[in-house]
Amino acid sequence: MGGRRQRIDLGDDEASNKKQKADDDNAEAEAQTHNPWTGLPYSQKYYSILKKRFTLPVYQFKQELLKKVMANQCVVVEGETGSGKTTQIPQFLLEAGLASQGETCIACTQPRRVAATSIAARVADEMDVQLGQEVGYTIRFEDVSDPNRTVLKFVTDGMLLREAMHDSLLSRYSAIVLDECHERTLATDVIMGLLMEILPKRTKGSKHGELKVVVMSATLDAKKFQEYFNDAPLMKVPGRTFPVEVFFTAKAERNYVEAAVRTTLHIHQCEEPGDILVFLTGEAEIEQACEEIRKTAGSMARDHGELVVYPLYSSLPPEAQRKIFSAAPKAQVAGGPPGRKVVVSTNIAETSLTIDGIVYVVDPGFSKQKVYNPRIRVESLLVSPISRASARQRSGRAGRTRPGKCFRLYTEQSFHKDLQETTYPEILRSKMSNVVLTLKKLGIDDLVHFDFMDPPAPETLMRALELLNYLGALDDEGEMTELGYQMSELPLDPQLAKLILVSPDYGCSAEIVTIVAMLSVPQIFLRPREQAKAADEAKAQFTHADSDHLTLLRAFNEYNMVPERERKNWCWENFISERAMISANNVRNQIIGIMKRLDLAYVSSDIKGDGSFSSMDIRKALTAGMFMQVAYRQRSGEYLTVKDNQNVAIHPSSVVNNRQDWVIFEEFALTTKNFIRTVTSTNVDWLVELAPHYFDLENFPKCEAKGELEKAYLRMSKMCKR
Ligand code: CDP
Ligand code: MG
Repeated sequence: MGGRRQRIDLGDDEASNKKQKADDDNAEAEAQTHNPWTGLPYSQKYYSILKKRFTLPVYQFKQELLKKVMANQCVVVEGETGSGKTTQIPQFLLEAGLASQGETCIACTQPRRVAATSIAARVADEMDVQLGQEVGYTIRFEDVSDPNRTVLKFVTDGMLLREAMHDSLLSRYSAIVLDECHERTLATDVIMGLLMEILPKRTKGSKHGELKVVVMSATLDAKKFQEYFNDAPLMKVPGRTFPVEVFFTAKAERNYVEAAVRTTLHIHQCEEPGDILVFLTGEAEIEQACEEIRKTAGSMARDHGELVVYPLYSSLPPEAQRKIFSAAPKAQVAGGPPGRKVVVSTNIAETSLTIDGIVYVVDPGFSKQKVYNPRIRVESLLVSPISRASARQRSGRAGRTRPGKCFRLYTEQSFHKDLQETTYPEILRSKMSNVVLTLKKLGIDDLVHFDFMDPPAPETLMRALELLNYLGALDDEGEMTELGYQMSELPLDPQLAKLILVSPDYGCSAEIVTIVAMLSVPQIFLRPREQAKAADEAKAQFTHADSDHLTLLRAFNEYNMVPERERKNWCWENFISERAMISANNVRNQIIGIMKRLDLAYVSSDIKGDGSFSSMDIRKALTAGMFMQVAYRQRSGEYLTVKDNQNVAIHPSSVVNNRQDWVIFEEFALTTKNFIRTVTSTNVDWLVELAPHYFDLENFPKCEAKGELEKAYLRMSKMCKR
């Protein structure tokens, strides 16, 4: 087997020939009747997409790109969003013969899961192959690829990093396309550092052959990337964009969701035909806005045409995600006003996914961004103002097919004064524990001298090392322990990984793996606004008063006891997301697979076999894994996190009310207030028994909790003496 190899003309450098060459290539491609990958005749659909592909700006640069790639190990590509980088460039590399089935493969990284899955599906269509065969994708807990067939794989940047843990030279890959580099996600930054180590070991003639790297981005600081990759050449793909008129509001908007809805309806009423893209920050906001737009749109249809509204966010089921690409509705009556499509999306539509036909953009100026405070060890997603670079990207979405308009829901003064020019790279805003564990596993011990494009703050690295040391993953010298190796095998946060590893000691690994799986999937309990009361009543059936974790466990166990064909109905009646449940089952099976490999015992506290469990054993295991996330209720009734002394409140969605003195928590959410989320009651005696190295009173800040811990130590020493 093997792909269609194309002649690459290395001799001719003249740009004037570019168009002619591209046309020749296209004619050659159109003349092909059989798919070289499958041996089957091409479908009609293939040819119709092919026509569209030829019109993408990047096509004119195919020969130039391939020439640069052949002559260099690393090439930087900068091109306007929608110019065809992501969908076409990996295919160019394939056509140039860079991958060979069953031997080597091309990877294209994406920061977002949705982008990886949706682009893989698109490219499979373009190549006229079945998704999961020649073209596939790998995201955490989901691998749709075939090692013997797949030649092009879209992967999240985090997954590629994980692969490097087992294959430190990434020897399976002949080329890696690092996409969306301007986003500077944590994983992309780490991969870049790794590639700096790998590239000299994967030159021409090396054992695994040469590794090619293509670094791509919409608006990147190309110079910085070129320099970082040892003066790699740059290829610039000019975009084909139309002018976009930008409007600002005269006054600051108090409620940007409401303002976005109002603006959208206004556009529908007053502006020429053309689709609308609205940027909001997350699922709840997006669903709310969609609902409100729909409510009013109905009554406008007769005079102004039909308005269809599609949400777009990462936890949306794939079928629903695909809908954003469907065409706008036609006029309802002949000669009547044409319909319009509105997509209400998170940042994903900023550069990762291009939706054709957008003429109007509504930009409230916010997105959810990670923030990390190393002092209190809290990483959170916060709705924050976007950067000016993002604002420009967003407005650019309006000028893809014809001149467009962008409505910024903030003042011009605010744009210049309040917004930063660019967003800080994520590595400067993240906790590093996961990355440090990964790097240690990769054998990179000297983190201080690792070639990060922007090195993280020393305090952040220290915090990460400290956490891993408390969890027992690193010893006091900073060397990886056996436990650390095992933790790094699990694609989970170090704390959850530790939880899985200790769970057999408490006789409840079967239950803990369920809880961890349930924590790894989107929202299980649904709570539609208009049916909040009914939803709360449904959830109450599963409630375990001491613990959100045990409530999740109960819901899972009950779901699994329902016969398969009745599950859909059962979920519907109980306000449970069936999709999240299916995913939890899948995640659970995968973790169990890894546990088997690690030789961890699968034991259940359900001795009767009726879905019951030992609440105490499980809570104790949870405490053994999560002892660094504890809060204590003071006499005033308020909770304070232990050691970091942050005032927190238990989130209203928690089943744990404020009666418990000691709680462990999964998440610290910064919103209007400091909330802790997914909470379980614990016991001070367990804390001193399970984590004396952490609750070491000599280095403990003064607080009410300290007195209780002292008493607990005293009780323990008396017990020991007896
Ligand atoms: O990566 P870049 O932003 O340069 O562009 P791309 O993602 O490769 O998309 C190029 C074009 O492919 C878009 O303008 C769309 O017309 C088309 N496309 C599509 O129709 N459906 C998709 N799921 C993805 C891309
Ligand atoms: Mg792209």
